Amino acid sequence: MINFLRGVPADESLEKISPLVAEGYKEAINKYGATVLQYGHFGGFKPLRDILGEIYNTDPERIIAGNGGLEVISLFFKSLPPNSTIIVEEATYDRVLLDAMQYGHKVVGVEMTSEGVNSDDLERLLREIPAGSAKVFYGIPFHQNPTGITYTEENRKAVEEICGKQDAICAWDVCYESLRYDGNKNTPIEVSDGGPILMSSFTKTISPGTKCGYMVLPKEMIGHVTNVIANTRINPNLPTQAFIAEFIKSGKYDEFQNVLCDLYKPRMDALNTAMEAHFSETDPVRATGGFSVLLNMPEITEEKEDLFVKSAKEAGVSIGSASAVFAPNILEKNRGKGFFVRTPFPALEPEQIGQGIATLKEVKQSVIGGL
Ligand SMILES: Cc1ncc(COP(=O)(O)O)c(C=O)c1O
Repeated sequence: MINFLRGVPADESLEKISPLVAEGYKEAINKYGATVLQYGHFGGFKPLRDILGEIYNTDPERIIAGNGGLEVISLFFKSLPPNSTIIVEEATYDRVLLDAMQYGHKVVGVEMTSEGVNSDDLERLLREIPAGSAKVFYGIPFHQNPTGITYTEENRKAVEEICGKQDAICAWDVCYESLRYDGNKNTPIEVSDGGPILMSSFTKTISPGTKCGYMVLPKEMIGHVTNVIANTRINPNLPTQAFIAEFIKSGKYDEFQNVLCDLYKPRMDALNTAMEAHFSETDPVRATGGFSVLLNMPEITEEKEDLFVKSAKEAGVSIGSASAVFAPNILEKNRGKGFFVRTPFPALEPEQIGQGIATLKEVKQSVIGGL
């Protein structure tokens, strides 16, 4: 079975890092002993905050290290006033949508372009937010999940400027920044005293099981967010944070990013080649890194969806509708635009990716022809 349902790291990457993790936890416990086994600071393990402060050239007090990217995002959402409006990209990380709505916030999708987001649309949406509702933009600027789009620096800065002018908080989730496989490096985002907020995760760059993420907040938000954390989970997992702090300091973390890029490059190339060969008519994004791109099949209309998914499964490819990645206003707008499917590729061999995409094309043809 070729599985396009799960955006997980390759097992080979976890096998490669496993001895380093084993050694890292042992060293962390030996070095920090009871300190990392006792209750600790709400904001995370100090040495990890210090090293992240150095990386982002900012005061470590502004860094909150937590149990994963989603946890820090969730804590941020929890810290917002009730009924805040969160603007997200037209397709986004589905759990962020669910989590924001769980707190009672309103989520609204902004149009995307091949360069990032449509800045006119963003400006309009921010202007339409009723007075009294806090405004936030949440975006994934590098190898966006799920579209694969990387913002141009110009577009990213334009978004920050628009947010600044409209009194909106700009939050960038940069968890795919180091996962660029085309030989280029992404330019890190600079943070000033007032923002933007940066959020990230070591799930895709180390392992999901070790579960660690962080955010860089403007100084004036720290007190309030810390209170929310104090009432939610007290300290995060400290042995993990001690391991990661030492792993980064030793240089092994950066070395491992190169291992990942070498492992994932042929997989990305296989995806791009197969997309070009079989779905060029819908002009899918050419991946330069990250974990997936989003494929649209306009001919697979709503009534053909179930048959398409079932036929794909019978042909050996597991897929699902990507409808959960769209905010309610975008779901409405996408009515009649056909089927959307995510294509997470890092856990698949290049041959499987090529075969999987080719099979989707064949199944599509037979479903269109057969109805
Ligand atoms: C954009 C984005 N942010 C955050 C996360 C979650 O990271 P974590 O597993 O650290 O909670 C993911 C995981 O897929 C993601 O794609």
